Order: sequence, then C-alpha cells, then structure tokens
Amino acid sequence: MKSNQAIKHGGNLHQAAKLYPIPLKNWMDLSTGINPRPWQPPDIPTAIWQRLPETEDDLLPVAQQYYGCDTILPIAGSQFAIQSLPYCRQRSRIGIVSPCYAEHVYWWERAGHRVVMIKPDEIDRWIHGLDVLLLINPNNPDTTQYSTNDLRRWHHQLAKNKGWLIVDEAFIDSTPQASLLTSFKKMPEGLIVLRSIGKFFGLAGIRLGFIAAETNLLAQIAQRQGPWAVSHPARWLGTLALADQQWQQQTRKFLVNQSESLQNIVSSFFKNTRKTHYFCYFQHPNAKHIKHQLAQQGIWIRRFDEPSSVRLGLPTSDAELHQLNETLSLFFSSIR
Ligand SMILES: Cc1ncc(COP(=O)(O)O)c(C=O)c1O
Repeated sequence: MKSNQAIKHGGNLHQAAKLYPIPLKNWMDLSTGINPRPWQPPDIPTAIWQRLPETEDDLLPVAQQYYGCDTILPIAGSQFAIQSLPYCRQRSRIGIVSPCYAEHVYWWERAGHRVVMIKPDEIDRWIHGLDVLLLINPNNPDTTQYSTNDLRRWHHQLAKNKGWLIVDEAFIDSTPQASLLTSFKKMPEGLIVLRSIGKFFGLAGIRLGFIAAETNLLAQIAQRQGPWAVSHPARWLGTLALADQQWQQQTRKFLVNQSESLQNIVSSFFKNTRKTHYFCYFQHPNAKHIKHQLAQQGIWIRRFDEPSSVRLGLPTSDAELHQLNETLSLFFSSIR
C-alpha cells in the first residue's frame, strides 16, 4: 500500500517556490479550494494560549446553532474523522464516489476494508451491495452535487442493514440549505456528516472541523481524539467565526461572485469547465503542461491524474483575476 506521504494536496507553496525560481511571496496560490478572503482573527488573549482547552466553553452551543444540529463533535479538522471512521466498524464493503479527496480512499483501505470506487451515476446500482457509501457534496474535485432527497434515500437503504452513509460537506457552507444537517436536530443511526472550518471560513491553519453523527459514534470518536486535540486558540477563534453572521452573509456573496468571474475566465479558454463556489474544474489531456505553464508565471494550481484534470481555486482580487486572464491568454488559445 502506498504511504500517505505520497498523497498529493494543494496549498504546497513552499514546494512550488523550490521547483520554480519564484520567491514564496510572489505566487498566486490557486491550488486549494480555501476561501482566499478568510474570516479575520482578532488578537488572541494570552489566557487562551496559556490555558488548556475546555469542552464546556461556548464552542459547542455556537456550532450547534450554526449547523442546526445538536449531535456534533468538534475535531481537529474533518481530516481527523476521515482517519478515524474506518476504525469504528468491522471489515466492510465501502463504495467511495470518485474522483474524490484522496485521503478517504487511503484510510478506508489502510484499515482493511474492501473499497470500491464508483461513479455518481452508479450509486443506485451499487447501493444494495454496500455497507458504507461515502461521497463529498459538492464534490472535490469534480463539483458533482447531490440532492438531499437522494441522500436521504441512500441513507434509508443503508441504515436498514446497519450501514452508513458518510457525506463530507467540507464545501457546503456557501449553500447551507443543501446540507443534510439542517434536517436533523439529532442525527439518526447510520448517517454521518463531516464539516470543515478550513474552506468557507478560510481558516485551514487552525485545524478545526466537526463530525455530526448519532451519539454512540460521537463518543467513540471523542475517545480516539483524547482531551486536548482541538487547541484552545482553535476553539476560541472557531466560536467567534461561527457566530459572525454578518461576515458569513457577505462571504456567501463574495464566493458566488468571485467563482462566477473565475468560471467566465476559465471557460473562455477551456471546454466543459464546472464550478463550485470555491473552485473551477475541467478535464484536459494536457493538465500537466497547463500546470507547468502557469507555474512558470507564478500561478500555482492543482492537477489530477485520474482523470487528467485541473482545479483552480479562487483568486483573491480583481487584480488577480486579471493577471490569470492575461497569463492564460499568453499561453492558451481561446476556444471562443
Ligand atoms: C473534501 C475534503 N474533505 C475534507 C478535507 C479536510 O479538511 P480539514 O481537515 O481542514 O477540515 C479536505 C481538505 O482539503 C477536503 O478537500
């Protein structure tokens, strides 16, 4: 089995600066799906650095209000749940809708489960033979979206035989009405939802996320995590960000507009581009060449091998959008 060090991720700007002769500060980083205009953290009081985190602070009630669900647990990034869930069930047959964030496949395989990679339009054909179905909504990288009706139907089918539906909602905060969490004050058996503070709030560095599930499973995850895994600064900043409704409303508008502008630019050079509010995606046989050409100009993007494809995150400003457009015009002929 490959090492998890071999799994590629975006956000690796230090690596970019080593591979190309461009200083770190001069790069435009479009290699992630992280909001480029993060929630702005205030100065952190010394006591927050100094004192151990406490689970009785305000984070849980504020997060319950934000997500509309009570059975949630703060974790050190949704990545922690991705690594832990495979160890909370006996050997199972799990369908993972692909292409997808590679960590999911890695950890289920590593824990000894039988993993089948399935396409979104094959779910109904596979579901009766699965113990667990895992998908990302909206999907990273290929942007596929699922209706809550389909998700509930799949959950019912799986739960009949003690199966699980796991929905990774890392990129759903810009469209909260599409989340499964708003329908459940208490999560039913067999339904697990993952949420991230990294993407919408742009706070990937504090390593905070949530898992929503029935309480027995939350207790197992809490035990695996131990008492101090979510740092006190992460809990404190997360509480403020989750309560800041004004910022959240403005940010939803920004993400909608900025992703529209990005899509307009990218689709004038490449066919069949698709978008979420956080990134643009298209398949292309020369994805490697596209990445290299842009990197030579200081624009760092993400490419995938299977299928050969490209993902571009949101530029921070109009100036960056303009720079991207100019760079694409220099190297790629327009399809218009
Ligand atoms: C789909 C998806 N889920 C989960 C994660 C993990 O996010 P975090 O651990 O920062 O919450 C990522 C990170 O890129 C992701 O793309």
